[in-house]
Amino acid sequence: MTSIFNLEDVGFTYPGGSVALNGVGLSIHPGESIAILGANGSGKSTLIRMLDGLVFATSGVVNAFGKPLTEASLRDESASHAFRRQVGFVFQNSEAQLFSPTVRDELAFGPLQLGLTPSETEQRITDVSALMEIEHLLARAPFHLSGGEKKRVAIACTLTVNPSVLLFDEPTGGLDPRSQYWLVELLVRLREAGKTVITATHDLNIVSTIASRAIVFSENHTIAADTACDEVLADMDLLQSVNLIHPDLHRHDGVFHAHRHGRKQEHHHSDSH
Ligand SMILES: Nc1ncnc2c1ncn2[C@@H]1O[C@H](COP(=O)(O)OP(=O)(O)OP(=O)(O)O)[C@@H](O)[C@H]1O
Ligand SMILES: [Mg+2]
Repeated sequence: MTSIFNLEDVGFTYPGGSVALNGVGLSIHPGESIAILGANGSGKSTLIRMLDGLVFATSGVVNAFGKPLTEASLRDESASHAFRRQVGFVFQNSEAQLFSPTVRDELAFGPLQLGLTPSETEQRITDVSALMEIEHLLARAPFHLSGGEKKRVAIACTLTVNPSVLLFDEPTGGLDPRSQYWLVELLVRLREAGKTVITATHDLNIVSTIASRAIVFSENHTIAADTACDEVLADMDLLQSVNLIHPDLHRHDGVFHAHRHGRKQEHHHSDSH
């Protein structure tokens, strides 16, 4: 099977000199659901941006759909449109993604940009706004929406293009529990619909629901593990070594659980662990 993404010994250093990716090798296949895990600054967002063709490897090779993904390859308009139709990216910060005067215009932007007709675009807006339950927001200004509403609109914008590969950067950040639940459901539905879903997240509680494979970054920007989610979540030494769990944070009944500093002795669970 042709891989969607194939990275070989990829490095990335930002212009100021910060190393973000170091010797990264991975292959991602159609229909996979993958969680990208790692401590702050380990390189998750940089990897996601690289998979979306927004930043380019400073060393090593990145292939997408069997062809090199480079700044030069995306300069070709038809290649870039083909890539953008296949791969959608939901930013962590929805504000950075929204710029149109109304939500309806925002939703129309991607499809029109990629050459869909106005009537096809209208149909996509109708379908996606029903799916995302944002029909009542269509005439509103994205700028005036709440954070959670902005997130829904940003995801809807990505879905109007109907990409087969979806990249999410910290999608549950800033959402209330109900919206988080809704988002996890959406990720599961996308996965069940056969989409390839790649999610960078800190939220260890959602990992096994939204993904079957986990790629774990160490703090020196290399891949520390790339295996089944359940295996990663059960490996406390690994999670501690990459700073994804704190010694005072542990897991029972499948839920990660924090003890406040120095309060361990005052804390009781009904189960034993
Ligand atoms: N635009 C930038 N310019 C310079 N350095 C950057 C830039 N963006 C990120 N970095 C650096 O690159 C490294 C990786 O950052 P990245 O944002 O990919 O990490 P992350 O794993 O997504 O972190 P977080 O969990 O905090 O979102 C960090 O050391 C960061 O300081
Ligand atoms: Mg990040």
